[in-house]
Amino acid sequence: MRPSFVFVGVAAAIVCANAQWTVQFNNKCGHGTPLLLENGKTLSTGEPVNVSSGGVTTSTIAFLQTGHCGDNGENCTVVETTEHTAAIIGPTILSDISVAPPHKFSVPAGFQYHGGGQFCDGLHADCASASCPAAEANCQIIELDPHPPVTLEITFCG
Ligand SMILES: *[C@@H]1O[C@H](CO)[C@@H](O)[C@H](O)[C@H]1NC(C)=O
Ligand SMILES: *[C@@H]1O[C@H](CO)[C@@H](O)[C@H](O)[C@H]1NC(C)=O
Repeated sequence: MRPSFVFVGVAAAIVCANAQWTVQFNNKCGHGTPLLLENGKTLSTGEPVNVSSGGVTTSTIAFLQTGHCGDNGENCTVVETTEHTAAIIGPTILSDISVAPPHKFSVPAGFQYHGGGQFCDGLHADCASASCPAAEANCQIIELDPHPPVTLEITFCG
């Protein structure tokens, strides 16, 4: 039984390398426009959106455009998310909050994962001030394919 179990696990992980997650914004600041960008392309201006890796490494940035942020989130608090397609353990979705140059603390920001399995659900990080420590969380989706739905909720002024 043991060898066939291992085979099934690895096969599922390879299929699972196509990760999809939903990004959802919660803007409690009362102003500004949440933006989600992938390589400079706008994926969302505040509405929920599905992001799919298509099997390649995918990176997005999210920030609250208050009129003071550059086109790529310069001078503003930015939530960076990178999906790594690791064949053996399945995809991992790493999110962090950056206030380091060219970014800069502008508004409090936080994120939380909902769903995605036991190594993902509930993971969160917050950055409430310019001196927030490295805020990151690594969501690992190692469930069988299709992987459980996972939502990345990004909150501003939470
Ligand atoms: C994201 O995909 C799921 C499952 O395919 C679907 O139910 C949901 O409506 C989609 N959400 C958006 C915002 O497109
Ligand atoms: C960031 O802020 C500095 C100082 O206010 C300003 O000179 C610079 O143009 C800003 N950068 C962007 C990309 O908006």
